[in-house]
Parts: sequence; C-alpha cells; structure tokens
Amino acid sequence: MANTVLIGAQWGDEGKGKVIDVLTANANWVVRYQGGNNAGHTVEIGDQKYVLHLAPSGILRPGVKCVIGNGLVVDPIGLTEELQDLEKRGIDFRGRMFVSDRAHLVIQYHKELDGAKEAKLATGKKIGTTKRGIGPAYCDKADRCGLRMGDVLEANFEEMLRERVAAKNAMLAVLDAAPLDADALVKKYNVAFEYLKPFICDTIPMLNAAVRDPKNNVIFEGAQGVMLDVDFGTYPFVTSSNTSAAGVSAGAGIPPHQVDEVIGIVKAYTTRVGEGPFPTELFDDDGKALAKVGNEFGATTGRPRRCGWFDAVVARYSAMISGVDRWALMKMDVLDGFETIKVCTAYECDGERVETVPASISKLSRCTPIYEDFKGWNCSTRDATTFEELPEQAQKYVRWIEKLTGVPVSVLSVGPNRKSTIELKI
Ligand code: GDP
Ligand code: IMO
Ligand code: MG
Repeated sequence: MANTVLIGAQWGDEGKGKVIDVLTANANWVVRYQGGNNAGHTVEIGDQKYVLHLAPSGILRPGVKCVIGNGLVVDPIGLTEELQDLEKRGIDFRGRMFVSDRAHLVIQYHKELDGAKEAKLATGKKIGTTKRGIGPAYCDKADRCGLRMGDVLEANFEEMLRERVAAKNAMLAVLDAAPLDADALVKKYNVAFEYLKPFICDTIPMLNAAVRDPKNNVIFEGAQGVMLDVDFGTYPFVTSSNTSAAGVSAGAGIPPHQVDEVIGIVKAYTTRVGEGPFPTELFDDDGKALAKVGNEFGATTGRPRRCGWFDAVVARYSAMISGVDRWALMKMDVLDGFETIKVCTAYECDGERVETVPASISKLSRCTPIYEDFKGWNCSTRDATTFEELPEQAQKYVRWIEKLTGVPVSVLSVGPNRKSTIELKI
C-alpha cells in the first residue's frame, strides 16, 4: 500500500491517463494536484474512449475516490460539462468526487486574456497555449486577486465576481479585446456553480487522513510534463504550474514525506504540442511516421503534435528533479515499423558536450542532439502480454533506455487499451 505520484517526464501527453487507469485497478484514491483543463488524459476501455480534462482518471473505476486538489485552476463550466457528460455515459461519481474549496476558478475573462495576450505576441514569442485561461488564472492566484471554489459558497460571491469582471474588462480593453457582459456571465456561471456546489469541500483533512491510512493506495495524477514545469521546464514555453513531483505537496496539501514512490511516464519517443525548443524534433519522414502511427493530435485542442526521437537528456533531467523510481514506457508499438530507431544521449552546443537541460532557452535552441542508432525490431509488439513475448530487439531497447536514464522500466505499453499493458518485475 503506497502513496504514488505519476508524472509526465517529457512535454505532456505521455499516456498518463492510460497508466492511471491501469494502476487504479489497485487504488482507492486518485488526486489531481495542478493544472486545469489544459490537460487531456485519454483512457480507452474496450471500445469506449474517454478524454478527461479535470476529472481525475480514476473516476472511471467504481468506488475510487477522486479529488480535484487545491493546486488546480478549475473552469467551472468545463468541469460541469465534463461531469455531466460522464454521468450521461453511466459513470456514477456522486459521493466519491471532491473539489477543494481552495482550488482557484478559471472564469471567461481568463480565457479571453489568454487568447488576447497570445494574439499580441510576435511570431517566435507565442507560447502556443491551449487558451484555457491557465496562465491568467495562476497569475491572479499569485497576485492575490483570484476567486476560489470556496468563495462560490459565500453570500457575497456574485459581488466578488462582478468586481473581477469590471477589473478584467479594463485589462481586455488594453489588449484591444471586447469586454464581457457581466450580467450574461453571472447568469451562465451560476448554472455551473449550482451543479458543482455539492462537490466543493475542504479536501485537506480527508486527504491527510487518506495518505496516513496504510490500507489505502493513493495516486497523485500529474498533468502536463516536467519540461512544461514553470520552474524546471523550457521557460517561458511552459505551463503555469509545477508539473514535477514537487507540485504534489503544495497542490494537494500533504507533507512531502507522505509520498512513497514516483512513477515517471515517458513515450518511447518524444512529442510536444505548442511552441518552444525541442532538440530531437524531426521534420523528415520519420517524424511524419511517428505522428501518423502514434496518432499524435492534442487530446484537448486537436493540434498536431510535434514528434521526435527519445531524448535521454530530458528523461534523466526529469527523473532527477522528480525522483522518478520507475518508468512507465509508453507507445512502444509506434516504433514497430522503424528500420532504425535513434536515441539522443547528449547534446552538442557551441562545440561542447551538454549532459543536462540548460536553463537558457537560447542555449537549448542551439543544442543539437548526439544520437545513437538502434536497429529496429520491424514487427508488431501489439499482441505481447509479457516482456519475454516481445521481439528481442524491443527487449533490448527497453534495457537500453533503462541504462541511459538510470531508472528501471516497470510498465510497458504496446497499445492504447487497458489490456495492452505489460508489467515488468524490477
Ligand atoms: P496524457 O495526457 O499523458 O494522458 O496522454 P494523452 O491521452 O494526451 O495522449 C496519449 C495518447 O496515446 C492517447 O490517445 C492514448 O490513447 C494513446 N496511447 C496510450 N498508450 C499507448 C500505447 O502504448 N500505444 C499507442 N499506440 N497509443 C497509446
Ligand atoms: P496533458 O496533461 C501537452 C502546453 C501547451 C503550451 C503550454 C502552455 O494532457 O499532458 P497552457 O494552456 O498550459 O498555458 O499552455 O503547455 N500544454 C500541454 N501540452 N499536454 C498537456 O497536458 C498540456 N497542457 C499544456 O500546448 O505549449
Ligand atoms: Mg494529454
């Protein structure tokens, strides 16, 4: 029984939803601790596909308690739509879904500001955000003018909301964006707040009791990936929260020593959606093949994902920061058709060998990957149910990734479905 953190160790979309769904077979709590509905976590069960944005991926397992922690920025309309959609699909979460009264609200003005700020940025400076209002909402949190879930329960909430709308309309005017109609906004949001009220509570005591009870398995579900962390990622081309394991304590309200283990999720290659440096990005036929076979389109925005080879520098760096104990190595099957697979083992920059991710975005942009070639297995891994059933070269690839990153692989994924998962003894 353990308290486990699952984090993306690349630029997001590593397959966190799938791994969490698999692991919740043995868990009774799943907790989101940062981000918002910029996340898109896909879970495929049989012929059913679910894309979760705010609801913890454990929601699909009956009886699993789900928490939206204090560290999130929650779009109440997005969350209402998502929960109503799940209800329509027969998922019953009443009595086991909790939203922290300390979580911040994302309101329409945050989304408008997100879009308007991006529109003002010159080419090359745009972040390529999901336009879900994430940056502006975290901005308000740090600026101490955010609204929180708990505020919704206060008698003067409408007054607070109207005050914010007026202040943000002034900001929108500066950005040449249209003002919002406060009456219409209040009316629209009130419908969502009424739906959400039964879920709002103080999640801190319940989570602290949960992590201290040895009978529990608590999973903390990271969103995005370490390279999008506001402190450790490719700043400023990042999201606005701590996506690394460090975010758990602040975003769920539990002490750091309650975390027993950290599982890092990596694809067997790399993808990135949005702008910013990406050393192993491919612009050739191999890149196109990864995108096509991997069906690499954003689960939230539908944008095509940029694709490249596995970057061991990134994986080592993420593992170091987050204390990754073991990997879940995803989408191995996408490499099935490649004659030669490349892995970046270090970078070269200005004539020097670079072994870790530099802080300077300009330096990272000048880094070129040092690749090692690996002979592909050229056959399907899709039907393998044990490590031994994998082609020999695929087994060697896994062992090589372990060697290059210094972290053992304990879960291997060879297809999007629950059953296409191989557990390895470590
Ligand atoms: P997340 O944001 O980390 O949860 O990942 P996404 O859901 O955004 O993107 C991962 C995509 O890969 C989803 O469409 C999954 O269904 C799919 N997927 C997950 N694991 C595998 C796998 O092992 N093989 C293949 N082919 N697809 C996978
Ligand atoms: P999951 O949880 C991939 C990226 C955006 C953009 C940057 C900032 O599904 O892995 P934001 O809207 O957060 O201000 O955008 O971060 N981004 C993601 N990329 N997966 C995600 O989530 C992402 N969430 C944000 O594309 O580059
Ligand atoms: Mg995703």
